[in-house]
Amino acid sequence: MILIAPSILSANFLELGKEIKDTEAAGADYLHIDVMDGSFVPNITIGYFVVEQIKRVATIPLDVHLMIEKPDRYVVNFIEAGADILTIHLEADIHLHRTINWIKQQGAKAGVSINPATPLALLEDIIADVDLVLIMSVNPGFGGQKFIPGTLDKIKRLKEMLTKRNLNPIIEVDGGVSPKNIKTVADAGADMVVMGSAFYTSGNYVKTISDIRTITGANTK
Ligand code: DX5
Ligand code: ZN
Repeated sequence: MILIAPSILSANFLELGKEIKDTEAAGADYLHIDVMDGSFVPNITIGYFVVEQIKRVATIPLDVHLMIEKPDRYVVNFIEAGADILTIHLEADIHLHRTINWIKQQGAKAGVSINPATPLALLEDIIADVDLVLIMSVNPGFGGQKFIPGTLDKIKRLKEMLTKRNLNPIIEVDGGVSPKNIKTVADAGADMVVMGSAFYTSGNYVKTISDIRTITGANTK
């Protein structure tokens, strides 16, 4: 069964508590939280103070995606705030191995993410250390962008790379995923998908998740 992580970036922030409750009631597996610093990506979103508030009401785990430069500076803050999975970008951290292991030592699951133009080969020496690999299927910075089709091949190649080495971190895909393309994303090898605009503009969260379960052949709800 594919794991679904709605990105609250596309939720109604004036009703965030209710949005979180509705997202959970619809059957989401994780809450995806996009943290942007205005430097690694052009946009600025939320910080660990808001993550801490979210943690007080959320009952499903928090999947925190750091799109910030030098993420090692904030690992402790986000884990203390309640991140269950903390994902950092390969492009943003020179000492990736150290930061990934530090995240795990602090008690969270550690993820590494790569941008669309970053070659998969750069993951070779870190994939044995991570709990999750996040493949960006848009250039990070904003919700509502179009899925980059070449990502499908990248997911397949990642899956092969992991199988060959007998490793099994979660493969997560983020950007432009919707009920329309989720089947191809799942078939390529994704274990978990982020869904922002397609979920929060759907008008019916329960139906959206139920449709996805049906489309991906796992409708248990
Ligand atoms: C993009 C973010 C995504 C985004 C997904 O920089 O990392 O998580 O919120 O939103 P959609 O599903 O609308 O592309
Ligand atoms: Zn994200």
